[in-house]
Amino acid sequence: MDFCGVNQLKVGIVGCGHLGQGIALSLIQNGFPKEKLMLSYRGNPATYQQLEEKGLVSCLCENQTILEQADILFITIKPQDIMSMEGNRAAKDALIVSCAAGLPISLLQKVFSAERIYRMMLSGPDTILEGKGVAAIYPEQEVLAGLLNQMRVQKIPLSGEGDLNAFSAAVCLPAAMLQESDPEKIQAGVCAIGKEYPLFLDLYDWAKQVRPSLRTQEEIDAYIAKMATKGGITEAIVNSLKRQEPFADALHKGIERGIEISSAVQSSLK
Ligand SMILES: NC(=O)c1ccc[n+]([C@@H]2O[C@H](COP(=O)([O-])OP(=O)(O)OC[C@H]3O[C@@H](n4cnc5c(N)ncnc54)[C@H](OP(=O)(O)O)[C@@H]3O)[C@@H](O)[C@H]2O)c1
Repeated sequence: MDFCGVNQLKVGIVGCGHLGQGIALSLIQNGFPKEKLMLSYRGNPATYQQLEEKGLVSCLCENQTILEQADILFITIKPQDIMSMEGNRAAKDALIVSCAAGLPISLLQKVFSAERIYRMMLSGPDTILEGKGVAAIYPEQEVLAGLLNQMRVQKIPLSGEGDLNAFSAAVCLPAAMLQESDPEKIQAGVCAIGKEYPLFLDLYDWAKQVRPSLRTQEEIDAYIAKMATKGGITEAIVNSLKRQEPFADALHKGIERGIEISSAVQSSLK
């Protein structure tokens, strides 16, 4: 199967945790040749076990090999870990695609000493694997858009890089709408934040469709733990809701968390 013309290319995924595994499995499910997939992680035995269970161990490589050989390189490590990539150089024509929340292109260019850097923000791995994912790319890139299309991930247009902080919080709506069960509070919160950030209004219908129907708090906690990055945006939103803060405030906390992560990483780069 021709994978939107890129089946001859090698795809690397640096940091195969929750999101990285979701992208890898989605690519394979949708016809991308497994032998052209290169994956890495940092050495956590629990991650190795997950990769083994998902049949992905044969794709494991050192970061250095991925950087040297991959044509498209997804960076799916936590933003707080990005400095572990400093000084690593990818192949000259490689597309480097950061999926890390909050890290601007200008910072990524310094970390990787490269120009061809893109950002891609995706919804949680479960939505991607069910063919119900959404994503945004900045700046627009044709090959990446084709890849998303093949993965059956809906691409949402952005008006600029600045939209990515709001988009990163808006893809957490399904988790937030599990934590807050009152539909009126949710609706009012989305309308309030949507006045400032229309992306929340754009993604509200999608979130209603993909939110799983879970009954107990244990089921909800387990679902959120699977999709939330530790110290990340979903966690900030859910923790705010656990403190009984209004829905719109919790979503604002998610946007603020993205900005905080970005500032912390920028200052560690100086
Ligand atoms: N989870 C989501 O729904 C979601 C959605 C959109 C965007 N994101 C973004 O995706 C990124 C990852 O989130 P996640 O939830 O997938 O986090 P995660 O489960 O903690 O995965 C991060 C992975 O990165 C690996 N890693 C860290 N440093 C590395 C290095 N130098 N080289 C190779 N691998 C390295 C870790 O390896 P070990 O396991 O060995 O420690 C871990 O497997 C974050 O930046 C987040 O903002 C996540």
